[in-house]
Amino acid sequence: MGRNWQSRSYSITALREEAQKILPRPVFDFTDGGAEDEWTLRHNESDFDKVSLLPRPLDGPGMASTATTLFGHKLSMPVIIGPTGLAGLMWPEGEACAARAAAKAGVAYCLSHGSVCRLEDLPAPAGSHRWMQVFMYRDRGFTRELSERAAASGYNALVLTTDNQTLGNRERDIRNGFTIPPKFKARDVLAMTTKLPWLLRMRQELPKITFGNYVRAGEAIDIGSLAKRMSELLDPALSWRDVEWLRSIWKGPLLLKGVLHPSEAQRAVETGIDAVIVSNHGGRQLDGAATSISALPAIADTVAGRIPILLDGGIRRGTDVIKAIALGAACCLVARPQLWGLAVAGEDGVAHMLEILRKDIQRGMTLLGAAQVDKLTRDLVQRGMPA
Ligand SMILES: Cc1cc2nc3c(=O)[nH]c(=O)nc-3n(C[C@H](O)[C@H](O)[C@H](O)COP(=O)(O)O)c2cc1C
Repeated sequence: MGRNWQSRSYSITALREEAQKILPRPVFDFTDGGAEDEWTLRHNESDFDKVSLLPRPLDGPGMASTATTLFGHKLSMPVIIGPTGLAGLMWPEGEACAARAAAKAGVAYCLSHGSVCRLEDLPAPAGSHRWMQVFMYRDRGFTRELSERAAASGYNALVLTTDNQTLGNRERDIRNGFTIPPKFKARDVLAMTTKLPWLLRMRQELPKITFGNYVRAGEAIDIGSLAKRMSELLDPALSWRDVEWLRSIWKGPLLLKGVLHPSEAQRAVETGIDAVIVSNHGGRQLDGAATSISALPAIADTVAGRIPILLDGGIRRGTDVIKAIALGAACCLVARPQLWGLAVAGEDGVAHMLEILRKDIQRGMTLLGAAQVDKLTRDLVQRGMPA
């Protein structure tokens, strides 16, 4: 008792536990859960245990620098906040809070297609690096519209997510009766007195929760109907022709998110894509899909340095970032940790989460003997260790 939230949230695992205490169960499970048996979700994290570090500290690195550059933009560390729908359900104006924390920490922020705010309303602090994530819709005109809106609003990069063209089977949400917006029965509310601060904080927000990018000007539509419209818009017939088309209309850096197969990475390079994101959507889509860290080395071999490779899924420690970079990634995205940071303390919570990672990465690199990010090479890790 008496310790403040910062000292209780001394690691990302501890931050998750704090968020679990704060959020109503259906909302926490929405952030935490995965598809079906959650095999991919669990192993995304535990497969990092199969990679160990081989320190070479006598190279005299001094305190390591975590700074790096991506698409010509300086980042304070190789970390990006990944896209998550409904961040505004964790904390009022959640997306704006997280984007501000990212900008202050010197990392990039990727807005989700499914943000509560409109993409036009995300703050753009000086020096910030903001990316926009989209899907390919049956109405290609809507994909074009979103990308044009992102360009007009000064977003620096576009992310096409390819692993969500039909929705994953998330059984925790089914079990909890999770609806958008969440509805709680009087009985549930009474059973969750510890959740009252969240309920009070969000009581004026909940009726306003929406998918801001999908609301047409002047349209009065409830979020349930919007969610249905959104899922009907997703096109499972997404193909390379669509990727080529998007490449032809988006002039800035274009990233493909959801790449696990080396042949897709190869094709991405040939199609003029600027970076691939090795990802299985945090185990929320195809359960049984390969874990991100296990899929990375083959993709790195195929891409052979021609474009940057990014990775997300299960990053919970600075040493996870270090392992991914040593195995060929340029940067890592973190998604759930950002939502937990928001749930605990809004902008300050995200800033805290980023600072945990920054310190972890710096300490880890120093102990490993890597003075800079580009010194994180494959000889510093050993693969295939039993968990
Ligand atoms: C609640 C939640 C919402 C998400 N929404 C999106 C989304 O809108 N678009 C997207 O491309 N990925 C989305 N993702 C996937 C993340 O961007 C990321 O790929 C995944 O969560 C893996 O990272 P993690 O282990 O750091 O959570 C979402 C993930 C979570 C947990």
